[in-house]
Amino acid sequence: PLVAVIMAGGRGERFWPLSRRARPKQLLNLDGSRSLIQQAVERVLPLVDPQRVLVVTGREYVASIRAQLPELPEANILVEPAGRNTAACIGLAAVHLERTPGPWGSDPIMVVLPADHVVRDAEAFRRVMRAAAEAAETHALVTIGLWPTRPETGYGYIELGQPVGKALGYDVYQVQRFVEKPDLTLARRYVADGRHLWNSGMFVWRVRAIREALARHMPALHEGLERVARAWGRPDEGAVARSVFDGLESVSIDYGVLERAEGIVVIPADFGWDDAGSWPAFERLFAPDEAGNVVRGARHVGIDTSQCIVVVDGAQPKLVATLGVRDLVIVETEDVTLVCAKERAQDIRALLARLRSLG
Ligand code: GDD
Ligand code: MG
Repeated sequence: PLVAVIMAGGRGERFWPLSRRARPKQLLNLDGSRSLIQQAVERVLPLVDPQRVLVVTGREYVASIRAQLPELPEANILVEPAGRNTAACIGLAAVHLERTPGPWGSDPIMVVLPADHVVRDAEAFRRVMRAAAEAAETHALVTIGLWPTRPETGYGYIELGQPVGKALGYDVYQVQRFVEKPDLTLARRYVADGRHLWNSGMFVWRVRAIREALARHMPALHEGLERVARAWGRPDEGAVARSVFDGLESVSIDYGVLERAEGIVVIPADFGWDDAGSWPAFERLFAPDEAGNVVRGARHVGIDTSQCIVVVDGAQPKLVATLGVRDLVIVETEDVTLVCAKERAQDIRALLARLRSLG
């Protein structure tokens, strides 16, 4: 029995000012259809019924997530007392699935999915997930990798080890090594050597397998989760959960488990995947015009303007006029205008930190 666990507590700040504290990336609708989290759920529903979809998120997003996903039972939105990154998110889901009676039965296979990715071929995605679930019957921790097409430093890289067999027609390899977010020199080497895959951030494992891996590699998190679970049903359950999570370090599953654990396998896959991590992703997601500009929600008139990303989010159509510029990101929302060099788009977090310090 599969359970889809959708991680939806990230702040997605790199799409500022479109993403805001109240509206992080997973709740955004980038392509004019449905939000990324709605698409993520829609994508798995042919694999699992809504009773078997858990969404893990922070208190501040619960109301919007419920509104966007009315098909999910309310009890399937798990609320973290505080965001402590993906290891804590996954650990909380695992202990919930272990200790809370539900339609998932005992020791289900968790298909752990980010809420904010773009997948162009949903059918291929589901085939890979079925294969990964099959592989999780014999291998403790199953990851999904993608052949890299650029030296992206925002991703983790998986070095392929020996082939260990097939699952539903897909090759399965041992993971030789896992490197989270390497620098550009390393990333270039990984792309060139043909032995490294991008980590998709999607994982498939049994509840027991990830519980054991957390106990071994992240004992403080494991102990904390045990304390949280022991308090369930007691009047102080909320207070215990809050104090445990307040005391947890913020560590991603990649650093906390994948870089350290043994016996991980990977399935190389291809389903038109994109993390859509920041504004330049728009050039991959949407067709640029003849001058290489990507324009969304605006009428753009430019002279000698190329390779720009122009986005307007507002009820009124708006004219954006540019002259003699290139490689800019221009984003206008109701109350903010951002003008940013495209090559600096990764640093928007620093800009946000500055804004916060100014109050
Ligand atoms: N519930 C919850 N709580 N969800 C979280 C939290 C948290 O504290 N932190 C992050 N998430 C969610 C995000 O909303 C997203 O859906 C997913 O977990 C991954 O988090 P990101 O913050 O987007 O991770 P990343 O993109 O920097 O890196 C990860 O994904 C890459 C591929 O997209 C890593 O796994 C990389 O190795 C990987 O290449
Ligand atoms: Mg991401």
